[in-house]
Formats: sequence, structure tokens, C-alpha cells
Amino acid sequence: MKCTVLTLFPEMVENIAYTSILGRAVKNGVIDFHAVQIRDYADNDRGQIDDYTYGGGAGLMIQAEPVFRAHQDVSGGKKVRTVFLTPSGIPFTQSLARELAKEEELIFLCGHYEGIDERVLEEVVTDRVSIGDYVLTGGELPAMVMIDAVSRLIPGVLGNETSADIESFHRNLLEYPQFTRPEVWHDKAIPEVLLTGDHRKIEAWRTEHAEARTRQYRPDLFEKYQEGCALYSRLTRKKRRNMPATEAMRLHDIRVLSRDENAVCFLDLEEDVLYLCGLKEETETVDFPENLPDSVKEIRGCGVRFSEDPQGWTKSRERLFVFTEKSPLSGATYEKDLLKKNYMDRTNAKVMAFETPWEGVPDSERDIIDVLQLLRYYESDREMFRYQKKSLAFQDAL
Ligand code: ADE
Repeated sequence: MKCTVLTLFPEMVENIAYTSILGRAVKNGVIDFHAVQIRDYADNDRGQIDDYTYGGGAGLMIQAEPVFRAHQDVSGGKKVRTVFLTPSGIPFTQSLARELAKEEELIFLCGHYEGIDERVLEEVVTDRVSIGDYVLTGGELPAMVMIDAVSRLIPGVLGNETSADIESFHRNLLEYPQFTRPEVWHDKAIPEVLLTGDHRKIEAWRTEHAEARTRQYRPDLFEKYQEGCALYSRLTRKKRRNMPATEAMRLHDIRVLSRDENAVCFLDLEEDVLYLCGLKEETETVDFPENLPDSVKEIRGCGVRFSEDPQGWTKSRERLFVFTEKSPLSGATYEKDLLKKNYMDRTNAKVMAFETPWEGVPDSERDIIDVLQLLRYYESDREMFRYQKKSLAFQDAL
């Protein structure tokens, strides 16, 4: 990803960009980082880029023209997602970080003094973002906060030492308490369950503590988490076996688009997948969702069939439509390309022939692994292990 910061203090952002994990990503070329001095685009020899505010007001403002020139130079006149850091922007969240991580190029514009002439902001800025309800002296630190959060979601930035998808906010829960050696410190022993080696018990302990912390410190987040849990609790036992749907409900950031007593339609904001999930024991006939958000890459159905398909989704080769039902059972092996190809061919053939693709339920364990791989659950052996552990925790809850 190319990432440029337009600023009056390049050294301030460079210090951060060339340090630690971000520094390694910049050095390895995963992040192509640039800090651009706005003063270099002044229209005078003194490098002056600020002036008094029309209508009066304390302090100086950055003028429109130098900012515009710097932006043109960096963007080459192309439309590039450009973030202006300001306390009056929309709040920065993990969900926005995920969205920005999908861009090939980002520009961050940092204000100082009293701000930047509104007219250039109207021309170049696509997003006005605040990192919190407090006022800093400039946009440099907020820009680096955003770049840090965005870059760690880009493949190749985090090494093996840590992983982006199992931490706080991934499932609307704060992180559970963690411990390292020694086992007893200042007379405080670590919780016994962590020494048992019993993964189910450990997982249950962690969830319980993550929930308790979230309830105490972030009631707003806890409410969102509960919304997913409430959906899950409405599923019948049979439908709970649909792992992708239930995991999305319980672990991901979701937005419910519609719900009635028969089915729920919700968006998985982390994966841009739309789920249609029947709530009752039998397969439900539901209306195909209208006006799907553009971001939706894939629809996954769970125990539903459609009355009609006005948008041709289920016939489309480009867009993916997957129906899944069974839960994965551990022990299956993983043969990446072959499985993926088999699944794609078979499902596409069914879809193209319109041979009730919604009934395309995997009927062997192989098929289940197939689907999971397609849904990106199996990306490496390590992923598979994690998935199996996770599913065990789920089986427990059933
Ligand atoms: N500039 C000054 N304060 C800021 C904040 N809280 N967020 C983003 N940009 C800022």
C-alpha cells in the first residue's frame, strides 16, 4: 500500500513510520511510506503557507493553494482516498481501519495552527476523521495512529508473533486477561484453569472474562456483542450447526438489515458478506434482498431458499453465492487447490444450471472442508488448527 502524509512536520511522522513493526513493513516494501512537506509547495521563497483568518479569529490558517499543489503532486490528479485529520471528523473505528486497509493508496492530510482553508478540503478530502473527543496540536499523531491500525491489517505486516484477527474488537469484546511467567508474582497466582491444558475450559474462561470486562468498561460495545448473541440464541439447534453464519453472528462486527420471525438478513462488516439465515427448523422461503450494498462480495445462505432472484445473483459467475449447512468436524485433511477447484466447478455448474443451488448442502466431510476453504477459513495449517479449536468451543455451546 502506498501511504503519504502531507504535513508541516515530516520528521514527526517519519520517526514513527521507521520504527518497530511499521518500520519493518516500510523497510520490506509492504508499505510504501512518504512524508511530504507542504511548505515545499509554497508560492514564495520564504516557504510561507499560512495567513490570517477571514472574519477574524485567533491564529493562522494553512492556505488552500500549497495544500492543493502538494496533493496534486502526490495523487497525480487521480482520485485517491484522502483523509483529513480533525477533531470534528467521524470517529475512527476498527471497521473504518478495515475499510481503508483495502485501498491501494491513501493520503493523510495534517492540519496545524487553526486549520486549513475549507475550499481545498472540499476539493481533495474524501474522509474527515477524528481519533477521539479531545484536541491535539496537529493531525500528525492522529495520522500515525490511523496508519498503524490500518497497516497491521495488511497481509505481511504482522509477523508470526501476533495475528490481527483474534484481538479486541474482532468480536465486539475487549481482550481477556493474559499472564506470563512466573506463575506466582507478589503472592498472586495465575488462574488455575490456564494450567489445565483443557482448551475448552480455557476458551470458556477467556470468553467469560472478556464479557465481564466489556460489560464493565465498554457497555456500548457489550450491547453490540449481545445483539449477535441474541440472534444466535434465536436459531434452532439445526441452524446453529451452520458455522460460518453462527461465527459471524457471535464473533464479527455485524449489521442487521432486516429480521422477521422466519429469517434474518445481516451484513458481516469484516468480510463484506451478506448472510441470509432462516431462524426456524425447516428451510425458509424468503424474498431476495433488494438494493444490496455495493460492498457485498458474497451472499451466504443458511437454511433458506428464495421466492425469486430478481438481481440474478444466484446465476452470476462473478459474484459468489454459497449455501452452507453443516458444521465442520475435525480430522479432515487439507488439499488446497484441488478442493477449491472441485468446489468451484461443482457449485458453479449447479448455479448455472439453476439446479436448486440453495440445496447444495455439502454431504461429506470433504465438501465441508471445501466450503470452509472457500470462505477463507483454511488458509494454512495454523489456521486450520485455530478453526478446529474454535469450532470445539462452539460445539460446546450447542
Ligand atoms: N487534530 C487535532 N485533534 C485531533 C483529533 N482528536 N483527531 C484527529 N485529528 C486531530
